[in-house]
Amino acid sequence: MPATVVAGNWKMNTTLNEARTLAGGVRDLAVNAAGVEVILCPPAISLAAVRDMVSGSGVKVGAQNLHHEDSGAYTGEISAVMLNGVCQYVILGHSERRQLFGETDQQVNLKVKAAFSHGLKPIVCVGETLEQRESGQAARVISGQVGAALDGVAPVDINGLIVAYEPVWAIGTGQAATPEGAAEIMGGAISETLHSLYGSSSAAVPLLYGGSVNAGNIVDFAGQSCIHGALVGGASLQADSFMDIVRLAGETKGAGS
Ligand code: PGA
Repeated sequence: MPATVVAGNWKMNTTLNEARTLAGGVRDLAVNAAGVEVILCPPAISLAAVRDMVSGSGVKVGAQNLHHEDSGAYTGEISAVMLNGVCQYVILGHSERRQLFGETDQQVNLKVKAAFSHGLKPIVCVGETLEQRESGQAARVISGQVGAALDGVAPVDINGLIVAYEPVWAIGTGQAATPEGAAEIMGGAISETLHSLYGSSSAAVPLLYGGSVNAGNIVDFAGQSCIHGALVGGASLQADSFMDIVRLAGETKGAGS
């Protein structure tokens, strides 16, 4: 059974001081996180401050992106080498990166390889658009994204991999997928693609649902056996509501018991 994981994607929100306050709030409530792997993904400029705030609490830290090269003339970019030691996780292939910044499957793949080669655990995001869903292509699109992101990644390297299913139409819209609809893709296209690539070791990969997750719907998502946690955007910006989600996910999955 994979670990229960709840990650907060703060996106381009919080100043340095706000990030410290939010991370401190999460840390203070982390006693309620029994058995759940809690990951905070602040803007890059706040990573070190958040790491220091949550130090010793068991709360982990993740970046929201990286550049696949180790160093060089890439103005504005941050590499896996730089993130190593500051955070343990990195969100890769988020649909906002794909849609707003033109990230391709090939770039996501290079980033995933860079993350693994520098000891970072990638949270690989996949998701179909509304148009793709309505034309019956969701499963094919998702399988393609998972396969492309992991192309050339050896089975020995998938230790630490997390896959997040975030339908584009459900992100930030208040219009979450149904738990059954999410489970159909996660237990279907995602699990099957991972299994075809990695065999039985794929069963240890935590699969997160993301897209308008809140304290009111997390129990229904976590109640699905193939959903092992959540990637939370908007509702991760308040420590108490985020930690409600963490607590409820842990209780529903029986984490730590
Ligand atoms: P949301 O974002 O929870 O605000 O929908 C989720 C995400 O994009 O990771």
